[in-house]
Amino acid sequence: MDHFTYIDGELSCQGVRLSEIAQEFGTPTYVYSRSTLEEHYRRLSAAFSELKPLICFSVKSCPNIHVLRVLVEAGAGLDVVSLGELQRARLANVPAERIVFAGVGKSEAEVRAALTGAGPDGNPEPIGMFNIESEPEYEAVGMVARALGRPARAALRVNPNVKAGGHDYIATGYDQTKFGVDLLHARTLLRKFNKEKFLPLTGVHIHIGSSILSPTPYVEAITSVLAMIDELAAEGVTIDTLDIGGGFGADYHTGDAPTPDEYARAIVPLLKDRVAKGLRIIIEPGRMIAASAGVLLLRIVYVKHNAQKKFIICDAGMNALIRPALYDAFHFIWPISVSPMHEPVRRTDSPDMPGLEPCDVVGPLCESGDFLAHDRKLPVVARGELLAVFTAGAYGMSMASRYNSHPMPAEVLVDGLKPRLIRRRENLADLVSHEVEVPSNRRAER
Ligand code: LLP
Repeated sequence: MDHFTYIDGELSCQGVRLSEIAQEFGTPTYVYSRSTLEEHYRRLSAAFSELKPLICFSVKSCPNIHVLRVLVEAGAGLDVVSLGELQRARLANVPAERIVFAGVGKSEAEVRAALTGAGPDGNPEPIGMFNIESEPEYEAVGMVARALGRPARAALRVNPNVKAGGHDYIATGYDQTKFGVDLLHARTLLRKFNKEKFLPLTGVHIHIGSSILSPTPYVEAITSVLAMIDELAAEGVTIDTLDIGGGFGADYHTGDAPTPDEYARAIVPLLKDRVAKGLRIIIEPGRMIAASAGVLLLRIVYVKHNAQKKFIICDAGMNALIRPALYDAFHFIWPISVSPMHEPVRRTDSPDMPGLEPCDVVGPLCESGDFLAHDRKLPVVARGELLAVFTAGAYGMSMASRYNSHPMPAEVLVDGLKPRLIRRRENLADLVSHEVEVPSNRRAER
């Protein structure tokens, strides 16, 4: 579900034409739909309501502060993994107890900031929970908490050895990855640190992967950690929080992902009696909320034919959206202005319509990895026309780069009927602004 629809052959977002957005803000531009973000949050929240979960949106998927604010206002907490994301969370005005902090390499500075609220608002509240990934990390976080005299809550990230996720790079819950600790070691750590004064380890966290298109791996992972939790309870080791992570899929092709209800139907029965007895549940979705709430708007610079292929060359490629190059990911791409017979009914890699031509959709960068789609059938398009790359709201802008010294795209949030610029396009001065001494462009005088 999303609010990007074709009306009379023109793509619009909540009724605002993408052509108008391109005219006002230029391209490449990420365009987000506020209503879609809110609706995804509401649907997930309704599906899991029996568990009364804290839903912490995963900042890494779409970190713009204005997007975070939309979700925080809807009731979300935030899942952060760095000092930079913590800063964004604080700027989004999320109550500190609704922040969870994950990541395998937390530095002392990060832990300190999380405990002292060194954010720009000077909020002195410590964050809600650290998700701890190893014994040395537990020791380090505990030491800072003790030194500051600020107790904090912690969960142990457990690696249940379940392989799930859309690509090897985003499968995190099996024994060959750097994430979490295995079930055996987890028991030892939870026993050892469960009753510590400054950092009681009373939670369990799992995040088994991303783009998981079935509830089954969740059931498997949750079942195995619940068995561990029960075993520990019998020894007097109490676990009061279970964070089941994120990973829920998005509709890159129409109908790809289970609905929130379908995930919940499998997961809720495993947990609801425990919630009734006081277990607190956290969920950390990123993609499910943000992916189809955003499109990348591009302008066609040239259409080029060589002996074998037709290339649609756009004003951005892997620099703006690296997912096709990095994970061989599919994103539906379509012109924003089409004749009525080319209005897409489904987002698919093999649209069945007359008058389409196969082509590669590529960017302007100097490597062959700079593509957005290979051998894709599209209506005939011309230089200067606009394309939308769909389902690009998650891990799009957040993974964009300045490769080949292209400035970062702009970001626009459509709020009701109003498109708001939420990140200005970078300019040439921005590109060199961190290079300590910018040399003069005149020759040195002799
Ligand atoms: N929680 C933790 C601890 C995570 O590491 C992640 C994502 C999430 C939650 C949110 O996962 P989601 O619900 O969005 O699947 N760049 C890749 C995705 C990497 C995901 C990293 N961790 C991509 O473009 O597919």
